[in-house]
Amino acid sequence: MTLEGAWLASGTLGDVLRRSTEHLAANGSDTPRLDAELLLAHALGVARIDLYMQLDRPLDPSELDETRALVGRRAAREPLQYVLGEWGFRRLTLTVDRRALIPRPETEVVVERCLALLEGLEAPRVLDVGTGSGAIALAIADEHPGAAVTGIDLSAEALALARENATRTGLPLELARYDLFERLPDGPWALVVSNPPYVDPEDRSTLQPEVRDWEPAESLFGREAAAAVARSAATALDEGGALVLEVGDGQADETAALLRSHGYTDVRVTPDLAGRDRVVEGRR
Ligand SMILES: C[S@@+](CC[C@H](N)C(=O)[O-])C[C@H]1O[C@@H](n2cnc3c(N)ncnc32)[C@H](O)[C@@H]1O
Repeated sequence: MTLEGAWLASGTLGDVLRRSTEHLAANGSDTPRLDAELLLAHALGVARIDLYMQLDRPLDPSELDETRALVGRRAAREPLQYVLGEWGFRRLTLTVDRRALIPRPETEVVVERCLALLEGLEAPRVLDVGTGSGAIALAIADEHPGAAVTGIDLSAEALALARENATRTGLPLELARYDLFERLPDGPWALVVSNPPYVDPEDRSTLQPEVRDWEPAESLFGREAAAAVARSAATALDEGGALVLEVGDGQADETAALLRSHGYTDVRVTPDLAGRDRVVEGRR
């Protein structure tokens, strides 16, 4: 054990939970208790709720080693989701790691809008631009079973992760490497969806270390991708097909105007669970 790990040399599960929480709080976690519970449950291979049945049990040396390793990674501001190696997105549990962006709760709202727009279509062709972990594409395949979904990304690493997630979930998914600034795969598509990179590179220093130092830069930074997708989708979509875009906080109005300028109709903005306008859609 290193000197750094001496804070967790022995103790009952309850002691370890308390000291892990203190260690994470001291190292900048916003949610130290939640993080400690999830990491400890993961280290011990139990459900989080079951921790509370065994608070008085002393941990054995291998359990302490595993907990120390996981808590140490989180204390270095690695995102909780990467340390756990998996994360929930809608009804799915997906593998998450540094190859792709961690799926976010606001992106679940994107999927909600896609499903609403696909309602009544038996076998729609759906394109997810910048698929990353495959979260959006796989959730649509899961919740609209007739859909034929294709995910594209420029990152070969992200595509490999999306492939692993398709295998893990047993859901059908076509994947291909494309640069969205060059062209989209041939349509016609009933729905094009994208959560493109939308953080202004100038805002890099305002990001939390978990995002700035760990998530792939190519999944975060850029302000031109949404416009490129809107432009290409205008010709790749079926007549009556829909485009759904996730946008950054404060970008919804300009994106809605952009869609109108490309001839999209029924342009609509939907807020995320925190009430911020984050999803913009339109129809051909
Ligand atoms: C914000 S992430 C979204 C990941 C996933 N769809 C999600 O919602 O969690 C943006 C994705 O776009 C991909 N990307 C960035 N530039 C691209 C480009 N020029 N062409 C295709 N994909 C690109 C990144 O690799 C990344 O996976």
